[in-house]
Amino acid sequence: MQVKVLSARFDIPDAHKIEVAKEHGAYATLDKVFAMQPEEVIELVKASGLRGRGGAGFPTGLKWSFLPKNIDKPVYLAVNSDESEPATFKDRYILVRDPHMLIEGIIICCYAIKSHAAYIYIRGEYTTQVKALQAAIDEAYAAGYLGDTIAGKDYKLDVTVHRGAGAYVCGEETALLESIEGRKGQPRSKPPFPAVEGLYGCPTIINNVQSIASLPFILANGSDAYKAYGTEKSPGTHLFGISGLVKKPGMYELPLGLPLLEVIDKVAGGVRDGRKLKGVIPGGSSTPVLTPEEAQTVTLDYESMAAHKTMFGSGGIVVLDDTVDMVKLVENLIYFYHHESCGQCTPCREGLGWMLKIVKKIIRGEGTIADIDLLTELCDNIEMKTVCVLSAACTMSTRSYLNKFRHEFEAYVNGGASAQTAM
Ligand SMILES: Cc1cc2nc3c(=O)[nH]c(=O)nc-3n(C[C@H](O)[C@H](O)[C@H](O)COP(=O)(O)O)c2cc1C
Repeated sequence: MQVKVLSARFDIPDAHKIEVAKEHGAYATLDKVFAMQPEEVIELVKASGLRGRGGAGFPTGLKWSFLPKNIDKPVYLAVNSDESEPATFKDRYILVRDPHMLIEGIIICCYAIKSHAAYIYIRGEYTTQVKALQAAIDEAYAAGYLGDTIAGKDYKLDVTVHRGAGAYVCGEETALLESIEGRKGQPRSKPPFPAVEGLYGCPTIINNVQSIASLPFILANGSDAYKAYGTEKSPGTHLFGISGLVKKPGMYELPLGLPLLEVIDKVAGGVRDGRKLKGVIPGGSSTPVLTPEEAQTVTLDYESMAAHKTMFGSGGIVVLDDTVDMVKLVENLIYFYHHESCGQCTPCREGLGWMLKIVKKIIRGEGTIADIDLLTELCDNIEMKTVCVLSAACTMSTRSYLNKFRHEFEAYVNGGASAQTAM
């Protein structure tokens, strides 16, 4: 089931070093890229069907084509390496094991969008990853792949690493831009969208690390080779992080479209200790939970996830077994989003705190049925009433637990039950 497109060099010793990476194909696409017109590169990426791997799945080539034509301002690329969504741990592999794949992707993207400056915004806690990435960038400058000329071509490109300070909200693309500009990381109202008015008021493309790292394969092998993986509407491969209560948690590269349960069983070894599956979080903590029945029919692609009223998200799959207390899980979830709220919008700042208080009250055994209903009502009142979707990320997933595992909340209300007795 596993494939090696993005992870082709991951297991080669020292592949993070430029000479080893080059021996195994790094930077080999550049002659081809520079022989193409920038618009042709955009068309090729569009034809590949690549969709943004940061969570929303927006078509990458299409996003690039939103840049205004004939602009007299600089165009910027901001690579989103914040990777702070709980259960998400894919980009860090690229940064440490094959940073030159990312740098090559940045060159390809910048050439296509006519940009001469790229910023990589990296999660503050990623100390190892920052070091690996900066070392690779230094190597690329020294080898003539970055700087005033690229691979001997008359094309200038500078890449700057910008470290975040540990705020989940800075993964939201406009908060990320604010943070690079040196301000508090608070999302901007849209429109204008960053493609029109982004970093320093200039047109800016923001893409996830994995989206950009997918470009060298597409340029080297063509759009059909990329579309040979995955489904018609969700082509390609993805680095899935499988965690939770499975025998073999880890990061696995798989084509999109595989049945979720088959992946859990065959790739991650199945639920550990012979326990029973209770639920699956399919794509990071913000994606609505799936019941075992739903998990039976869902496949790992954007369309199937949407049909099951959840999201593909970041590909961070969390497997929950029958020892998991869903009420305490929800407490943990709300705690995280409340803590990470930037405080700009009242429904998010106050509402998530209120929800947390109610869940804590339920867990203390002091809750009522009306409290459970109030939680749902709060979800309805918070959602989509804010500048960004941080609070919706919390309410959409919380609502899924309230709907699908309400009996566990009721068990607490009716006598302080634990997960085991609530089942
Ligand atoms: C609260 C919040 C956090 C986010 N965190 C990340 C993140 O850590 N990494 C990421 O790539 N996208 C993150 N996103 C999505 C970005 O806003 C944006 O859609 C993405 O970087 C676009 O890249 P893509 O089109 O290549 O997916 C986040 C969005 C929100 C609302």
